[in-house]
Amino acid sequence: MPTLGLNHYTTLVERWTLPMKFPLCVLVMLCLMTSARAALPGDGADGKRLHDAHCLQCHDTGVYTRKGPRVRSLDELKHQLQDCSHMAKAPFSPAQMQNVVRYLNDHFYHFP
Ligand code: HEC
Repeated sequence: MPTLGLNHYTTLVERWTLPMKFPLCVLVMLCLMTSARAALPGDGADGKRLHDAHCLQCHDTGVYTRKGPRVRSLDELKHQLQDCSHMAKAPFSPAQMQNVVRYLNDHFYHFP
């Protein structure tokens, strides 16, 4: 049988590539998940700079991680920030606001 050699070869290849497909799948899923998280717009480094300059007079970062946080979603975080930046008399532009949201979410809240 002349085809025996070839068949043998393809089974070998299948045996080798099949287990390889699973980790590859996981890897692709991980990439998708991390890129979805990074989808929040804004510049976190600039957000931290703004935050550290304007937001630490009344509370430290402990309020973001305290038990039973007031803020429980991205929307609530944006609202709270509006109230607080008003109190802080920090007239942030919408882009700067987004940067602070990004910083707080990346470092403390981790909302999807
Ligand atoms: C004038 C004082 C003051 C300043 C300045 C201030 N905050 Fe606040 N912030 C508060 C108070 C008071 C609370 C807590 C309200 C409560 O206990 O329910 C709070 C709570 C928060 C929370 C909610 C914490 C939680 O429980 O999840 C966030 C987020 C927040 N501040 C962000 C900021 C940011 C960002 C800035 C800078 C733009 C800022 N704050 C500046 C007074 C201030």
